[in-house]
Amino acid sequence: MYQILRTILFYFSPESVHHFSMKMLKLICSTLPGRKLLAALFTNKDPQLITTFLGLPFRNPVGLAAGFDKNAEYLRELECLGFGFVEIGTVTPLGQPGNDKPRVFRLPKDQALINRMGFNNEGVKAVAARLKKWKERREAESPGNRSRMIIGGNIGKNKVTPNEEAWKDYETCFNELHPYVDYFVVNVSSPNTPGLRALQEKESLRKILVHLQGLNNAKKTARPVFLKIAPDLTNEQLDDVAALAVEIKLDGLVATNTTISREGLSRESESVSRETGGLSGKPLQQRSTGVLKYLVNKTKGQVPVIASGGIFTGADAREKMEAGARLVQVWTGFIYVGPGIVKKITRTLHP
Ligand SMILES: Cc1cc2nc3c(=O)[nH]c(=O)nc-3n(C[C@H](O)[C@H](O)[C@H](O)COP(=O)(O)O)c2cc1C
Repeated sequence: MYQILRTILFYFSPESVHHFSMKMLKLICSTLPGRKLLAALFTNKDPQLITTFLGLPFRNPVGLAAGFDKNAEYLRELECLGFGFVEIGTVTPLGQPGNDKPRVFRLPKDQALINRMGFNNEGVKAVAARLKKWKERREAESPGNRSRMIIGGNIGKNKVTPNEEAWKDYETCFNELHPYVDYFVVNVSSPNTPGLRALQEKESLRKILVHLQGLNNAKKTARPVFLKIAPDLTNEQLDDVAALAVEIKLDGLVATNTTISREGLSRESESVSRETGGLSGKPLQQRSTGVLKYLVNKTKGQVPVIASGGIFTGADAREKMEAGARLVQVWTGFIYVGPGIVKKITRTLHP
């Protein structure tokens, strides 16, 4: 069914399809019967799927990766589609438009996407206000409900902020979102903000992460802090990340973001592959799993990892978990497999 719909949707630009589909989903979810129908179709309520991780009760281990719901606009809808968790953002202190359109491209033959969005978002204050409202409404609708979707806050720096002052942007986002998210991800690995990935250098990372840990410890409730890394780091850079994560007792890592590599693409993708930006989906899968294994090995499993990169099926998710991931996230797979992706994956995790 989704295959037919997908053929039609793929005639239109990826960004307009994204907004159109999410608006349709919002319309369906605006009524209780609509929400019930979607939840019945797409939510897997198997209690065996509940995964307690870093003290948080995930209703299942399949999440939506950052960049899909940048402004926390579709949480109720994504909850109906069965996600165990959604990572909102990347959010920056000030709203920014991102790069000029078109900035997302499909590579259907390779089940991939290239994007150069450039952290378009409404800014942390607007996003925090929306999260506050959402939390209040959810509490009013189902007080004390424990089987809730977990929310992660993925934070970044504004394009105009120089790298030396990046820590201030992370601090601003951290403080504003702290009351409303369950965990944080520090994003220094997007290829679409000039110079951002230089922050993956050990001493830059230490400065940002240790600073956030200090702020976190001063709060009444500390939130787990993760670091999201690029799949393009060299082994030496990965060694540095692993050593630092163990040394400062980082709560976890997200492996990985999109890649700047264009390796292994089919000839049909040749012209689109020249677009600048990060490549995601199937061609990223192996490299991303390689990085995951490397980190689990280097940290001797002391630093939990969330896997992101090329997950489309239950077998893909299981492969990541067997490589040491505690949770998995999808993004490009959601576009190619459709709204049933969480149910399909979770069904095979616990048949
Ligand atoms: C259009 C698009 C926008 C994205 N935006 C972000 C973002 O804002 N922050 C981030 O950390 N990752 C972002 N990502 C990366 C995804 O979160 C994910 O890590 C990556 O796509 C690999 O997973 P996948 O192969 O399942 O897509 C984006 C990916 C896509 C395709």
